[in-house]
Amino acid sequence: MVMQEILIGANEHTQIIMDAAMGNRHGMISGATGTGKTVTLQILAEGYSRLGVPVFMAGDLSGVAKAE
Ligand SMILES: Nc1ncnc2c1ncn2[C@@H]1O[C@H](COP(=O)(O)OP(=O)(O)OP(=O)(O)O)[C@@H](O)[C@H]1O
Ligand SMILES: [Mg+2]
Repeated sequence: MVMQEILIGANEHTQIIMDAAMGNRHGMISGATGTGKTVTLQILAEGYSRLGVPVFMAGDLSGVAKAE
């Protein structure tokens, strides 16, 4: 089976790619203010949605709720 990937982030040297099949494990996104927690969550939600996985999110998501 082909691995389905979600690109989490990148710079000029490195790409951080998540194997989507690992998403059924527990996860935690932590970091100091402004380090990319919300964007990482948004990328995961968009990535799974793009792969056909229904995504449910709860909480104050007003900052990420705007349509592209
Ligand atoms: N994967 C990424 N690629 C490029 N830029 C990013 C990425 N993630 C975050 N950024 C940049 O960093 C900024 C802050 O990210 P984000 O709002 O996700 O941080 P946060 O950890 O949720 O902050 P806070 O603690 O204030 O909620 C974004 O507006 C964006 O400019
Ligand atoms: Mg945030």
